[in-house]
Amino acid sequence: MKGIILAGGSGTRLYPLTKAISKQMLPIYDKPMIYYPLSVLMLAGIKEVLIISTPRDIAAFEELLGDGSDYGMKFEYIIQEKPNGLAEAFVLGEEFIGKSSVALVLGDNIFYGSDFGNRLQKVAASENGCTIFGCYVKDPRAYGVVEVDENRNAISIEEKPDMPKSSLAIPGLYFFSNEVIAVAKNVSPSIRGEKEITSVIEHFLNKRTLKVEILGRGLAWLDTGTHESLLDASNFVEAIQKRQGLYIACIEEIAYRRGYISKEKLLKLAKPLLKTEYGKYLEDISKQPQSKVFLEV
Ligand code: DAU
Repeated sequence: MKGIILAGGSGTRLYPLTKAISKQMLPIYDKPMIYYPLSVLMLAGIKEVLIISTPRDIAAFEELLGDGSDYGMKFEYIIQEKPNGLAEAFVLGEEFIGKSSVALVLGDNIFYGSDFGNRLQKVAASENGCTIFGCYVKDPRAYGVVEVDENRNAISIEEKPDMPKSSLAIPGLYFFSNEVIAVAKNVSPSIRGEKEITSVIEHFLNKRTLKVEILGRGLAWLDTGTHESLLDASNFVEAIQKRQGLYIACIEEIAYRRGYISKEKLLKLAKPLLKTEYGKYLEDISKQPQSKVFLEV
């Protein structure tokens, strides 16, 4: 399975913060926002990732993350000229995806919770249809919303409904079979002029090949859409890291514990960061056995 991070968009809801830089480059406590969705793909076991961003911002992401070899991975980059909608990711990514199945994660979505890595690996192992997630939120009107029956089978999908049929918002993480390329090519723009991801998901719903995984109380899905929620996300990450001494979305740690990089490589990555707690954390990790255990707690 391959992975795509969609990190474009106009970011106007966070102006003036995002007037000159990408939203997905903003800090969430101690690391750039894009580390969080990247860590999700890594936890799912994905090693080949396409990063999509704007003509203005793509170079900055390339500078930040490189070709992926620092993390034992492979990164590619492609420009989205205009924010034409999430479904365009699969059209732009056609060549990159090739004959693989593919996971899409939005560059501004943050997840954190126990056993999440194991759950993701199980989902990634299935190459059929589409798997989306459902997260309880107090007010789902700003999101895609999925309605499910008592057996958790999806009944309906709606994008930003005024009167949501359920409290289950669809977070920005989607797993698809290769069929998604053909489906995305046929999606027409919505009233707001975007090729909606919900239109793509609907195709799989109609074919009865849509699975919904409910993410319950044990999983935090954080929003970064407003100045307030951005600060809340930073405070959340700080609180967890301080208390547990375990970092959220530390991509170097995941690469090390998953065996993608050696201890020597980890120490090399830590070296320029040693003036920070982040760098010291990497150094500490290198003294621990290269085990997956801490990733799954
Ligand atoms: O966050 C989850 C929600 O994301 C889902 O519940 C919705 O179904 C989905 O449509 C999306 O809604 P948003 O209104 O949050 O989408 P937004 O336009 O803010 O874009 C989400 C991210 O994708 C953001 O980081 C910018 C990026 N993006 C967006 C568009 C439309 C792109 O890179 N290219 C685009 O064309």
